Amino acid sequence: GYGIGALMKTTGNTTLDPGYTNTASCESSITFIDGAKGILRYRGYPIDQLAEKATFLEVAHLLIYGQLPTDDELSEFTDRITTRSMLDERMRDLFRCFPRRSHPMQVLASGVNALATFNADALDPHDPEHVESATIRLLAQMPTLAAYAYKNSVGDPFLYPQRRLGYVENFLRLSFGNPTEEYELDPAVVRAFETLFILHADHEQNCSTSTVRMVGSSQANMYASVAAGVNALSGPLHGGANQAVLEMLGHIRDEGLDAKSFLDKVKDKSSGVKLMGFGHRVYKNFDPRAVIIKKHAHEILSAAGKSNKLLDIALELEEIALEDDYFVERKLYPNVDFYTGLIYEAMGFPTSYFTALFALGRLPGWIAQWREQLADPAGKIGRPRQVYIGEPERDYPSK
Ligand code: ACO
Repeated sequence: GYGIGALMKTTGNTTLDPGYTNTASCESSITFIDGAKGILRYRGYPIDQLAEKATFLEVAHLLIYGQLPTDDELSEFTDRITTRSMLDERMRDLFRCFPRRSHPMQVLASGVNALATFNADALDPHDPEHVESATIRLLAQMPTLAAYAYKNSVGDPFLYPQRRLGYVENFLRLSFGNPTEEYELDPAVVRAFETLFILHADHEQNCSTSTVRMVGSSQANMYASVAAGVNALSGPLHGGANQAVLEMLGHIRDEGLDAKSFLDKVKDKSSGVKLMGFGHRVYKNFDPRAVIIKKHAHEILSAAGKSNKLLDIALELEEIALEDDYFVERKLYPNVDFYTGLIYEAMGFPTSYFTALFALGRLPGWIAQWREQLADPAGKIGRPRQVYIGEPERDYPSK
């Protein structure tokens, strides 16, 4: 018999649901999405209010502990994080082993895994103190890891985090500062980053979060689970799309293509070309994050006084696609990644670093979901079934 989804099938007690389009893997109280209405809420708070008013660490606290922190709670939470943002000195050697051209996402995933080896006495998922320690250390050290992955890729010296700086400030200085000069922070860029991180902070059971939960369901430690999430995020259909969008826009500009003929190529399925940054498994009307980001892209690009050629191409692609039957029929709209790359580029980030920025934003969500799963009395090891379509039984040939 056939189930409710277009591709769903049931055989015996097993339901085949490719890509899990109709299958919920868990109950969750963290994030609410209504894809038809374009609604996204963290713990009940609308995303646009959080993006405008909250800081990233407030949102991290909200996602992980279930409520916005009081002033005292926020300053304690912030202190615990900033005092742990340095890496063990031997971690520096680890980075030096990677080839210069390594992709920051691969180095970041390796670094997160390596954190477990430096915290070997605090890995028990059933010990609340260990879980708390991993939570704080991951939040504190992932930005340092990401910045070192970047510094390694360009061959620049590593900097130490500074306790007097805020979370986003520290990360920007670690990425772009140098040891001999004071790094000047632009408050507008800092605020834009807070917003971008908040918009990425959780998105219920997406590919990387489901991976974190799946690995965690075997009771693997939080570092191992989050490292798996970083790897899942790296693919171009997920977090890697922000890099792919910018490469696509650059290709259109450099080859002098016009937007309309590029979209004709996308519509010709045999070309294998997709309009990167368009389409979403859940949002079928608009992605509320993309709406907020588009506004910021305009502001930041004009403030940076950069050439807006890529933004112009993006706007033209969007305008044509939203009127075109191919995209309208399939309900394809710009997703969160369509405009983020343009902002990151205007801020001076190289393309290969974009997805690591997404990972830093998504980290609180991964942690919150991992913890929620562990605390769920109905929690079980993730173990999907399959529908076997191979050979029937046959005998090994006699020689
Ligand atoms: N360009 C062209 N056609 C597309 C696109 C696109 N970006 N996205 C979907 N389609 C088409 C598909 O070819 C399919 O057409 P068909 O019905 O004629 O076969 C139809 O729209 C439905 O698409 P699916 O791939 O079945 O949708 P799914 O929910 O599996 O995929 C996904 C969602 C992966 C996001 C897809 O839209 C895509 O590949 N987008 C481009 C990559 C991207 O931007 N990823 C970032 C997602 S957001 C995030 O991770 C933060």
